[in-house]
Amino acid sequence: MAIIASNFKTNHTRKSTNDFIENVNNFLLSNDIKEEVYVFPTATSLDYFKTVSNFTLGAQNAYATTNGSFTGEIGTEQLDEFGIKTILIGHSERRHILGESQEEIAKKFSFYSELGYKIIYCIGEPLEVKEQGLEKTLEYVYEQFVGIDTNYENLILAYEPVWAIGTGVTATNTDITSVHSAIKSKIAKPLLYGGSVKVANAHEICALDGVDGALIGTASWKVEDFKQIIENTKDL
Ligand code: PGA
Repeated sequence: MAIIASNFKTNHTRKSTNDFIENVNNFLLSNDIKEEVYVFPTATSLDYFKTVSNFTLGAQNAYATTNGSFTGEIGTEQLDEFGIKTILIGHSERRHILGESQEEIAKKFSFYSELGYKIIYCIGEPLEVKEQGLEKTLEYVYEQFVGIDTNYENLILAYEPVWAIGTGVTATNTDITSVHSAIKSKIAKPLLYGGSVKVANAHEICALDGVDGALIGTASWKVEDFKQIIENTKDL
């Protein structure tokens, strides 16, 4: 069974998130879809959604704290209010745009794993590394596991080549399977692929050897497309 996750990034309002969630929930219920589905809205759109019975709501980010003085951040006190126990850690936009270091990421990972959160942990190489070949790519990706307990029971991994994120350029099946099989030979955890997954390619990608599902940005923001992706992958 595929795992399908939507990362809203900095998109949707509180109102449109509400509509999206209700729509997806009704779709899953009425079609009796048992696929594991996650949605990561913006922090301002988190809420205690009574309707969320068939999928999991997660946080795109939070600080490694319960509460305190960390201007602009949220901690577990704010997540607990909405029963959120799932978090994305290590996304390339946090690494490369927001400047999170591996050390900070590892600290965040320890904090949230100690609390038993389900963690979707992202790894992936930038274009200049990919251009140096598979060996260098794997070296780079393995560095992103420094300080991370890969035996953590509530862990899902997501391989997202940076050059494929939000660019419309999907990795080739060979790119995906070579990296996935290498990671899988070292770490026995579900491994999603992310990077320009869309309605047209979701089934093909999720059916590849070593791919357990997809983490989707752009194509998941339109609810009809997200539902279609779920539909297309439900029997895998
Ligand atoms: P994308 O983003 O689907 O827009 O490429 C994927 C991600 O960043 O998780």
